[in-house]
Amino acid sequence: MRKVNITETVLRDANQSLIATRLTYEQFAPILEELDQAGYYSLEVWGGATFDSCLRYLNEDPWERLKKIKDKAAKTPLQMLLRGQNLLGYKHYPDDVVREFIKMAVSYGMDIIRIFDALNDLRNIEVAMDETIKQGAHAQGALVYTVSPIHDVKNFETLAKQLEEMGAHSICIKDMGGLIMPQVAYDLVKNVKNAVKVPVYLHTHCTNGLAEMSCLKAVEAGADGIDCAISSFSSGSSQPPTETMHFALENAGYTTGLAHTTLQNINDFFKPVREEFIASGVMDPKVLTPQPEALSYQIPGGMLSNMISQLKAQNAIDKLDAVLNEVPRVREDLGYPPLVTPMSQMVGTQATANVLTGERYKVVLKEIIAYFRGEYGKIPGKFNEEVAKKALRSKQPLTTRYADTLEPAFEKTKEALKDLTTRDEDVLSYLSFPQVAEAFIKNRNKEAAEG
Ligand code: CO
Repeated sequence: MRKVNITETVLRDANQSLIATRLTYEQFAPILEELDQAGYYSLEVWGGATFDSCLRYLNEDPWERLKKIKDKAAKTPLQMLLRGQNLLGYKHYPDDVVREFIKMAVSYGMDIIRIFDALNDLRNIEVAMDETIKQGAHAQGALVYTVSPIHDVKNFETLAKQLEEMGAHSICIKDMGGLIMPQVAYDLVKNVKNAVKVPVYLHTHCTNGLAEMSCLKAVEAGADGIDCAISSFSSGSSQPPTETMHFALENAGYTTGLAHTTLQNINDFFKPVREEFIASGVMDPKVLTPQPEALSYQIPGGMLSNMISQLKAQNAIDKLDAVLNEVPRVREDLGYPPLVTPMSQMVGTQATANVLTGERYKVVLKEIIAYFRGEYGKIPGKFNEEVAKKALRSKQPLTTRYADTLEPAFEKTKEALKDLTTRDEDVLSYLSFPQVAEAFIKNRNKEAAEG
């Protein structure tokens, strides 16, 4: 019987997708031992928005959280999501900061680091992957799935091969928009499996109602694992339900290694937690149902709802159709970036500006200017030279990787913060989210002084 690895996302992606990453450590601490006993391949518990949310909303030190999770769940590998050169934020960091951050994360017990870049520019993944490997952790290279005229199975297959050559211990097909069709999932996994020797994983979302089908097809094509969320934190914009996928896969002749009675205990634990979040209004029932209208526009659901609220705020919802027609044109001008954060917001906002001002690129977003300069990475396809010229004006595009233009920052920042803290962990928190981290550290110092 072929084993299908299951990664449980309840503490990271499900938490992020359904309740804006508001789970506190105290809320999930009592179930960590059971999560550790269930037989998961890994527990995704850190990275993504968890770090920012801990500091900003939960008054928790993200490093302490990781340590406490590791103490209670020592057996199952812990997994995190990292945006390559952006670490957990949206700007690029110099290489020394990327290396220090990964070193620290591994020393705190991180076992598997899933590394991606929004533009699939492998230069933005290289340093993070190299350091992960050096630290003896599992480096999972992720390719961002998107739908466009330049992104085909061949293109993703090439990326997967390159990730393997860079040393990736496994490959993840990462579909944050939940746009991958079951048949595409099948073809893509089949081709990537043929192209590489390392295990291949599929990460998708139920946003458009496709994920269970796509995960099953991916497994049929030979995928080594999929990401699931315990049922009370599954579906909608989250992952497929763990228990359902477990039963379906076992019925089809695969083994997951999961103990279903333990899964039931885990779900019984999370049911009232979910009810609390619904009662407090943090969990919006709207994110619980599939929203397949995004499929007809080939854009992620989150992007669609963002544009609708932007237009409503400007009293221009009657322009929605015009903006929806403009989105693919802007994306084409930009050389088909994957529509994921931050590109989805950039493309959506520029398209809205193009429509509302009545003239295309009359106003060019400063992020679009930076994009054409190469500050986000290499532009995936052929872009519109005219638009690029208009955006750049006299500015010159970069000839190197953006991070190469940045000065080392770790030691300098450590020195600058020495009156506030002597902990390297704090320096890394500060580098990631300066204002929130500073407020957090000051507050902690104050509480300590007051005893
Ligand atoms: Co995700």
